[in-house]
Amino acid sequence: DLEADLQTRPPVVTVMGHVDHGKTSLLDYIRKTNVIAGESGGITQHIGAYHVELPGGRSIAFLDTPGHAAFTAMRARGAEVTDVVILVVAADDSVMPQTIEAISHARNAGVPIVVAVNKVDLPDANPMKVKQDLLQHGIVLEDFGGDVMSADVSAKRGLGMDELLEKVLLQSDILELRANPDREAVGTVIEAQLDVGKGPVATVLVTNGTLRVGDHVVCGMYSGRIRAMLDERNRPVAKAGPATPVQILGLPGVPGAGDQLIAMPADRAAEIAQTRQRLEREKRMRIKSRG
Ligand code: GTP
Ligand code: NA
Ligand code: MG
Repeated sequence: DLEADLQTRPPVVTVMGHVDHGKTSLLDYIRKTNVIAGESGGITQHIGAYHVELPGGRSIAFLDTPGHAAFTAMRARGAEVTDVVILVVAADDSVMPQTIEAISHARNAGVPIVVAVNKVDLPDANPMKVKQDLLQHGIVLEDFGGDVMSADVSAKRGLGMDELLEKVLLQSDILELRANPDREAVGTVIEAQLDVGKGPVATVLVTNGTLRVGDHVVCGMYSGRIRAMLDERNRPVAKAGPATPVQILGLPGVPGAGDQLIAMPADRAAEIAQTRQRLEREKRMRIKSRG
């Protein structure tokens, strides 16, 4: 892309942290909808990808991972889509094993962390202990003269959330995130499944360019024409620009998380998909013949 074609794009933010520290509640508050009410047992079953418009005209794409597996899987495939990690640490529980895991995932991926010290509304909340414990794991918050931003929040009560979002935007400004909305779309599959009514449905995060209904794409091993696109609330959309997650319909099969999507002419897309399918068949045969 030419320098002149690049425009500021929204950050892609992944919320990570220990089980029950409030990742979904935090997103839920931000989106002002009740996602956890619809989850069985309040445990996140899938990766949510949400585009959130903030007051002041800015926006953030959020990924809500069910654990760190998806983040790791995407990294392993070279699809590093996350710009900023919000590390949620419950103030009554402090740093726990999955907090430490999240820190090392973010660090290995070179992704900056903004800390949300959550549940500060609880009587036994101890935000200072969280900050001291994080120090032990190399996370030096601004309070201690470091450069990691943090906010004390209550996802439940909505306390400190504006400050948290402000710091996320500040952190992304430092990264100078840019993309070219006028080029053909490139994206990454966040999740995909076979829907009984809709057929293969893939949640794709557009990372560059603009994806439109009617575009021909290659996506993992499949090629097809985008028949319809839906936002995270199942509303139809005609196009999706950089850092917008969107559900796409029209692929003949279910791609894998981390697969790339690229818009291109139909014949080229079909050719690439056929080659990938052939290579996959050959790989399987080699594995089979090895016993
Ligand atoms: P998993 O996806 O299962 O790892 O959990 P999670 O990190 O998404 O946590 P979730 O949002 O499901 O919250 C876990 C529990 O903590 C729920 O009962 C929430 O109501 C509660 N909770 C979340 N945030 C707060 C908060 O700020 N204050 C209080 N008091 N409770 C909270
Ligand atoms: Na939970
Ligand atoms: Mg959750």
